[in-house]
Amino acid sequence: MSAQAGWPASEPVTLAVEGLHVSFRTPDGIVRAVRGASFEVQAGATLGIVGESGSGKSVSMLTLLGLTSAAEVSGTALFRGRDLLAMSEDELRRVRGAQISMIFQDPLTSLHPHYRIGRQIAEAVRAHEKISRAAARSQAVELLGTVGIPRASQRADDYPHQFSGGMRQRAMIAMALALRPALIIADEPTTALDATVEVQILQLLQQVQREYQTALIMITHDLGVIAGMADTVTVMYAGRPVEIADRRTIYRSPRHPYTRGLLGSVPGARGAIKQRLTPIPGQPPSLIRLPRGCPFHPRCPLAMQHCREEEPPLLEVGAPGQRSACWRAAELDEGEHGLLFVPQQMSGEVSDVREGGR
Ligand SMILES: Nc1ncnc2c1ncn2[C@@H]1O[C@H](COP(=O)(O)OP(=O)(O)OP(=O)(O)O)[C@@H](O)[C@H]1O
Ligand code: SF4
Ligand SMILES: [Mg+2]
Repeated sequence: MSAQAGWPASEPVTLAVEGLHVSFRTPDGIVRAVRGASFEVQAGATLGIVGESGSGKSVSMLTLLGLTSAAEVSGTALFRGRDLLAMSEDELRRVRGAQISMIFQDPLTSLHPHYRIGRQIAEAVRAHEKISRAAARSQAVELLGTVGIPRASQRADDYPHQFSGGMRQRAMIAMALALRPALIIADEPTTALDATVEVQILQLLQQVQREYQTALIMITHDLGVIAGMADTVTVMYAGRPVEIADRRTIYRSPRHPYTRGLLGSVPGARGAIKQRLTPIPGQPPSLIRLPRGCPFHPRCPLAMQHCREEEPPLLEVGAPGQRSACWRAAELDEGEHGLLFVPQQMSGEVSDVREGGR
């Protein structure tokens, strides 16, 4: 990778989100999309966020960046000591892109179809840095080379539709890197890509992270990605984290039945097998009419009466730093209760990048 000026390596950049609540008023009622999410990520570290569709992963991230304008929001999100949730729109705009970059699943939503790729990246640079057009252009070309676009100086003149899906995602990463952000939020960045390209993109993100000590939040449905990349994992259910632990602990001794359900059929998770989250019988609850008590109780094989009456708080249990929101977390020792859910699907595709995870 080329030698760009990095960030001061001594500064441990940390995003610390505490008690994030996000709700939307809709004609059907109030959608409580995020209900008390707390997590943090440090410089050079990766936080993996997993959970079924609708669990509030994207809304949490978009809210941090001020992109859920219609929502009612509370909580704090200290980014390098400043609360993102208390910033004005102008301040947030300066932070977005310059210090926090977001990579979406579909790069076409972020790349403008009518402008050449190189120009878009150059303008991203110039929006935050006072340099000439020519200097910004050469930075853009260098970045495209960094992310592995062949013949970058020529391809910089292409429009997004002239790039393949994998190349567009690389261009997005180049755009995200243009400002050498302290934090990259990647929301399912590789879901739309085929397996080979996916591995390359993940390797690229890891490489960038190592080089620039970037903090990374990786949202994914793919346990292999988490197994290979994440230092810490947050499992979301019905708008809140139900378990937080380091990667090894999550796979070896999860303390929440939902985590067990998601991972239950992954004997190779430690050996990094490409694996979608295991479908768990039943549906996530309506976020407008949440069930009383633990929101997972209608699907939980361990539910008891108390679970139907009171929602469990997220408390420390098990390994250092591990937290679970389950009344029965302490009983869920390694091996206790065995497999809670019957596996419904399994794919055995092994991938290299994940084997090499830290
Ligand atoms: N603008 C909005 N108005 C009303 N409800 C919304 C709005 N945006 C999101 N939601 C709801 O908030 C909930 C959480 O959505 P979110 O997009 O965060 O889920 P997710 O965990 O990212 O799911 P996926 O894995 O499918 O991307 C969903 O029920 C969604 O329908
Ligand atoms: S609190 Fe009860 S219902 Fe909820 S996950 Fe734990 S055992 Fe299951
Ligand atoms: Mg999402």
